[in-house]
Amino acid sequence: MSLKISPTNFFNEKFRPQFHFTPIKNWMNDPNGMVYFQGEYHLFYQHHPESTVWGPMHWGHAVSSDMVHWEHLPIALFPDENGFIFSGSIVIDTSDSTGFFDGGEGLVAIFTHAGEHPNTKKPRQVQSLAYSKDKGRTWTKYEGNPVLKDSSIIDFRDPKVIWHEEERKWIMVLAAGNHVRFYSSIDMKSWSFESSFGETEGSHLGVWECPDLFPLPVDGGHRWVLIVSIGDNSAYNEGSRTQYFVGDFDGKTFTNENDPKAVLWLDFGRDNYAGVTWSDVPKEDGRRLFIGWMSNWKYANQVPTETWRSAMTLPRSLSLSSTKEGIRLVQTPVHEISALRKPVTSIQRTITLVPGENILKDIKSKTFELKARFMMKEASVFGLKVHQSKDEETIIGFDSLRSVLYVDRRRSGDHSFHNAFSCIQEMDVLEGEHLSLHIFVDTSSVEVFANDGKHVLTSLIFPGEESDGLELFLDHGDVNLHSLDLFNYHSIWAKGGS
Ligand code: FRU
Repeated sequence: MSLKISPTNFFNEKFRPQFHFTPIKNWMNDPNGMVYFQGEYHLFYQHHPESTVWGPMHWGHAVSSDMVHWEHLPIALFPDENGFIFSGSIVIDTSDSTGFFDGGEGLVAIFTHAGEHPNTKKPRQVQSLAYSKDKGRTWTKYEGNPVLKDSSIIDFRDPKVIWHEEERKWIMVLAAGNHVRFYSSIDMKSWSFESSFGETEGSHLGVWECPDLFPLPVDGGHRWVLIVSIGDNSAYNEGSRTQYFVGDFDGKTFTNENDPKAVLWLDFGRDNYAGVTWSDVPKEDGRRLFIGWMSNWKYANQVPTETWRSAMTLPRSLSLSSTKEGIRLVQTPVHEISALRKPVTSIQRTITLVPGENILKDIKSKTFELKARFMMKEASVFGLKVHQSKDEETIIGFDSLRSVLYVDRRRSGDHSFHNAFSCIQEMDVLEGEHLSLHIFVDTSSVEVFANDGKHVLTSLIFPGEESDGLELFLDHGDVNLHSLDLFNYHSIWAKGGS
């Protein structure tokens, strides 16, 4: 059964994203249980079905054949006597290692039950299983739950399970306060501790959450990437953020190949959190596909949307690239998204930017994709202003003297709901005199992929309905535009959903 979206309400409320995933109504946070199975991309998510603020967590559910158009399905997992259903993952158990599938194959969800200790009544997080024999439509919780607990630690959650081919074992990476732990299993019902990582590595500005672990090819070999999100900390305006480590994983231990003090941020914007990757994407496809929660614990419960709260980022394909600083993650929006394009303009000749002259002045759009290539001939500040009106604009600017790309949302629209929202977000883009920008603007977000996805910045904005202008600006300096392509975006809900 899919949930019909009423034809009188095509997801067109104020601020409703038109090409990003949102729940039909009420609260959503982390993406969960992402798995590709029999032609469907599954997206489960942390969901409070009765309120627009966080509360007793369920797993909401949607499926898609392209990660762009989504079919909303009924809630997959409900809280029970073991607690709320916190974040976790799903794998295909192809060889029936769990014995749940009578020798066949099926889906196994591994998630955190957040409840209380039966004796002490203190908060307790444990790991549990559920399985589905009908393509994820219905789920049975394993009667032996929980399958993993630890009495010494309260923050013990967000299991991500992968199949480790060389060791022929399931590996679980789990967040445990200020580090992650690795466990192994042959049946997912009993887990052995292998090692821990991270107490003295990377950023510890918040509690560690939502890890992910996967190999990616690079330089003729491969490296393992460990993603770790860090929770909000009231002492820092940045709020919750996601970091990653690059190194090796031998089935037991993760070794970081960078300086332990180095912090590699996955995204330099404020609004890409708890992201993880899809499991079981077919080898012929070969992509490592990622989606994040496009919000921030700093203000997620207060953002000014009325019937629903939160969206996901665009789905992105992850890869590794060798740079002067070391091996780094690269993110590219999935090519499937280009099905939404309606070409508006394409400039394929060199134009020298002139202060005060806006070559995009006749274009009005609130949902679009823009690709552009620039060359700076001297220290310059230039860029794009989007969702622009007399009183509002979001500036995606580049300061070539500092080699900094910034998104200034101080005048982007409503920011009254939290004093940390109004800000300038910056990232270093150290790459000579050329800049390429790939930008996705939706009704309430901006995603910037600079220099082919080497530098990424994701940011929420809440502009007024009348803010639909676009400006290509030069503040000062000498800049040539080499090419520019602009596409309006169709709504993914245009047919009233499914
Ligand atoms: C991350 C997180 C997870 C937890 C879930 C609860 O955003 O805090 O660690 O499982 O959200 O909703």
